[in-house]
Amino acid sequence: MRIQLIGLGSIGKNLLKLINQKGTSISEKLGEKIEVVSVSDTTGTVITDGMPLTRIIQAKEGGGLKTLDSFEKINATSAISDLEADIVVEITQSTKDGKPGISHIVSAFENEKNVVTANKGALVSDTDLFKTAKEMKRTLRYEATVCGGLPVFNMMDYCMIPAKISSVDGIFNATSTFVISQLEAGKSLASAKSEAIKIGIAERDQRDDMEGIDSARKGTILHRRIFGSNLRLRDADISAKQSEIASGTRQFTEVTAKGVKVEYKKVTEKNVFSNAVGPSMVIRFNTDVLDHLTLFTDHDGPLESAATVLNDILLSRSEKGA
Ligand SMILES: NC(=O)c1ccc[n+]([C@@H]2O[C@H](COP(=O)([O-])OP(=O)(O)OC[C@H]3O[C@@H](n4cnc5c(N)ncnc54)[C@H](OP(=O)(O)O)[C@@H]3O)[C@@H](O)[C@H]2O)c1
Repeated sequence: MRIQLIGLGSIGKNLLKLINQKGTSISEKLGEKIEVVSVSDTTGTVITDGMPLTRIIQAKEGGGLKTLDSFEKINATSAISDLEADIVVEITQSTKDGKPGISHIVSAFENEKNVVTANKGALVSDTDLFKTAKEMKRTLRYEATVCGGLPVFNMMDYCMIPAKISSVDGIFNATSTFVISQLEAGKSLASAKSEAIKIGIAERDQRDDMEGIDSARKGTILHRRIFGSNLRLRDADISAKQSEIASGTRQFTEVTAKGVKVEYKKVTEKNVFSNAVGPSMVIRFNTDVLDHLTLFTDHDGPLESAATVLNDILLSRSEKGA
């Protein structure tokens, strides 16, 4: 299976580390080699040609991809159209208009490649990428877009088939929970926010985390999937304000047939939500047969999301498209 990686930030670097550590054993198990054909960031593209993945990570953390001999100043879209591969992994940052993720994903489909993404911004834009995938007979896997390391969509696909989901709620944003937990431990808001950036959990624009936009993106993706809607990010009710951030509060998201709501609320009872401390996330499904089915993690970050992306890569390797 030949992969092209678009985006070499927190998740991208962890994904290369995981493939480096686990690639051989996974290949032995599946009888198929995982080959990273190219890696692109904003500066250009490295054509790997069998190079150790650790060299790419070292270059990225040092002088940049341009320090590698096989670096070419070709952008991601050209890399997608010019190089042969089976799967494009799109992990550029989530933006308000979904760009450049949308054009990378559409370009992958046009070049008969399946896509795995963690990019929430691209999935809640005006372009219906699922419709495009279907029209072009390609697959789009996106497990890491909602609650990173938690198996939200795979659980829905394989464990909840008889259930009718009426609503989903929870704490979908690890950064705000981490920052509030740091405040509860006596740290300042500024140092808590910079620590969140350092450990790689924060969105590029940290207001997306603190003001509920990241949670609303996740809620919108869930709404579209659960209720078959065409909800857009702009339809979500985002009432989370930075001024409300305080000890004892958490950023809650609720997804119902009516829409998506994000707000800070006090946690008053001892329950699964009060256990959300540090980079935690909670997602709770309310269904007719499985009441309050809950997934919880006390640590979600780029490594966990990279593992989810790798799982999606392995699932999509044999998919032919709709
Ligand atoms: N971090 C998490 O824990 C987490 C969890 C779940 C989902 N996500 C989502 O996953 C995605 C990636 O997250 P991240 O934390 O890895 O982001 P990040 O650290 O901000 O990295 C984004 C990467 O995309 C690259 N990029 C941006 N525009 C590009 C373009 N036009 N062509 C090629 N590369 C481009 C950047 O290049 P440069 O390095 O050159 O700037 C950077 O390497 C985001 O959409 C985020 O919302 C993140």
